[in-house]
Amino acid sequence: MRFSSSIVFALPALALAQEQVPLADKIKGWLSQAQSFVSSAVPSVPSSPVDAGAAKVAEHVETSLTLENWQSVLSADPSATTAGPEDFMVYITGGNKTCYGVCDHADKAWNDSVALLSASPSAPKFAVLNCENEPILCNAWAVGPPSIYYISIPHALADQSAPAPLAYYIPLNRTSVTASEITAISTKETYKTNAPYEGIWHPFSGLIAQYQLGMPIGYVLWGFSKMPSWLPMILISFFSRSFM
Ligand SMILES: *[C@@H]1O[C@H](CO)[C@@H](O)[C@H](O)[C@H]1NC(C)=O
Ligand SMILES: *[C@@H]1O[C@H](CO)[C@@H](O)[C@H](O)[C@H]1NC(C)=O
Ligand SMILES: *[C@@H]1O[C@H](CO)[C@@H](O)[C@H](O)[C@H]1NC(C)=O
Repeated sequence: MRFSSSIVFALPALALAQEQVPLADKIKGWLSQAQSFVSSAVPSVPSSPVDAGAAKVAEHVETSLTLENWQSVLSADPSATTAGPEDFMVYITGGNKTCYGVCDHADKAWNDSVALLSASPSAPKFAVLNCENEPILCNAWAVGPPSIYYISIPHALADQSAPAPLAYYIPLNRTSVTASEITAISTKETYKTNAPYEGIWHPFSGLIAQYQLGMPIGYVLWGFSKMPSWLPMILISFFSRSFM
């Protein structure tokens, strides 16, 4: 009995010992791989003059959206001389909590493309929605970073009626998105590759916006996201117990 149980205990240790050599090798492999990533990343980490310049330009031409200002920022300027709709590119980003800290790459691509695009007279207007600072608005629109909302807002007609704005939602690949991809959204009108979003979360004409439910729903969803993960379990077990 004693003998067999000690064998049982010895077996996993043995397996572990046997696996240790390849494991050590594996770890060494990972380390050198990580090192190569780090060393290839390091030269680009200190921000080059170009990056710093792009961030500066971005800072000057883009508006940060908040719960209070988004409706006035995203509106057609009545004094504009062009007859066409006014276009806005809204970049949706986040931080450690809302983008798991991996939006830096997309942030940089966005900054670079804003710097490029803003040189063009036909450029859209730029806005940034940071879900880390504006969780309610992100929830009310049901959007997540990194992504772009391309919003085309028509001017009011002669009779003061305004056609509904068109909104195109473009999720970005957080690892592979490039500045040229973002630039093409405007210059090559790639936003038109998908139909405009017309669902209930549309910021202007969706059901939620029409009934002005966006903010309450935003708060509720935000509340759920703040709820510790064990709370639903407790509630469910509490309710199921009281039903039985
Ligand atoms: C992008 O530009 C903003 C300023 O508009 C700046 O705060 C941010 O650090 C820049 N991000 C990157 C990754 O360069
Ligand atoms: C985000 O997380 C990183 C790594 O965990 C940390 O260094 C950084 O300070 C955090 N940033 C914020 C704004 O909390
Ligand atoms: C993002 O790009 C990476 C690398 O090109 C790819 O492996 C990944 O599947 C893409 N993710 C999505 C959601 O498309």
